[in-house]
Amino acid sequence: TCSAEDSQTVVIGLAADSGCGKSTFMRRLTSVFGGAAEPPRGGNPDSNTLISDTTTVICLDDYHSLDRTGRKEKGVTALDPKANDFDLMCEQVKALKDGIAVEKPIYNHVTGLLDPPELIKPPKILVIEGLHPMFDERVRKLLDFSIYLDISNEVKFAWKIQRDMAERGHSLESIKASIEARKPDFDAYIDPQKQYADAVIEVLPTQLIPGDNEGKILRVRMIMKEGVEYFIPVYLFDEGSTISWIPCGRKLTCSYPGIKFSYGPETYFGHEVSVVEMDGQFDRLDELIYVESHLSNISTKFYGEVTQQMLKHADFPGSNNGTGLFQTIIGLKIRDLYEQIIASKAKARVEAKA
Ligand code: ADP
Ligand code: G6P
Repeated sequence: TCSAEDSQTVVIGLAADSGCGKSTFMRRLTSVFGGAAEPPRGGNPDSNTLISDTTTVICLDDYHSLDRTGRKEKGVTALDPKANDFDLMCEQVKALKDGIAVEKPIYNHVTGLLDPPELIKPPKILVIEGLHPMFDERVRKLLDFSIYLDISNEVKFAWKIQRDMAERGHSLESIKASIEARKPDFDAYIDPQKQYADAVIEVLPTQLIPGDNEGKILRVRMIMKEGVEYFIPVYLFDEGSTISWIPCGRKLTCSYPGIKFSYGPETYFGHEVSVVEMDGQFDRLDELIYVESHLSNISTKFYGEVTQQMLKHADFPGSNNGTGLFQTIIGLKIRDLYEQIIASKAKARVEAKA
């Protein structure tokens, strides 16, 4: 087993398929903690790790036990647990949580080989991001908070096309084929993790344009589990009610097809959850303050902090819609969770001395 004994580090799990916005989310999160995360200095230039004052983000691809050739030989994808070393993942996450540095392997995305390991020191906050942070029960138990980015097939396809065609020169057919080839393993090993997540950001095509499948205008749902320690779900207007809100009008500029918010209680894999939903996109980001002022429990430190964060990173993908908005809010919730955990530990230490 590898359960933590004296946890020093707060551990966050972020699960999603590749190309689904994990690195964008990480940039928003580390910005909330005040400081951009950078690759380790003087190390392997192909390291997947990002380090800031408070936070270290490690990519779980580093726990691939089979390299690219090994996967090809065995006929397994990177999504298959057989291609990943969960014992080592567990051991090292536990060590970091207990305040002990580890020599973590590096999966080199350029060569497809495993490079010599790098030293990772225990940070204040450790984020493990990748395909399987909630797959192994032992690793899952080490997480203080977990997030799943659930991108619907239509939207995933639109994003992949945008990136792989524009930036990597792949053809439409080859992108379709690679998504299809991954799908069985995605459904078997990645998607089921969402049932364990404390928060899920679900990204779907808009419902404001009937029959729209383009994946440009998005309907984004922030699904928040009730009863999670140190995490109070966000609400719109009135906690526990079911609400539908079209903020467009005198205070918010909206062009076609407009913006629609919804809020209410639901069940998700048998858990009670609260869901805040945004369909559509902002025309003017500075007017987001109007929406922000109607949301509660967003864990800001001052009025307008969500809007400020969004404006600061207006160039990140998703800044004009619910993906950016909810990623920013989850970032603030994680800061709050971290501060509460630290405060409760300090209190426990004082009480132990008394
Ligand atoms: P990952 O780290 O999961 O591979 P990235 O954050 O690098 O994902 O995003 C991959 C690509 O997906 C981006 O280059 C962009 O084209 C697209 N993308 C990610 N998030 C969004 C978003 N919220 N809205 C639109 N496109 C996005
Ligand atoms: C990483 C990514 C996977 C991707 C793989 C490429 O592990 O996280 O999502 O599939 O690289 O695998 P391949 O076998 O095509 O090199």
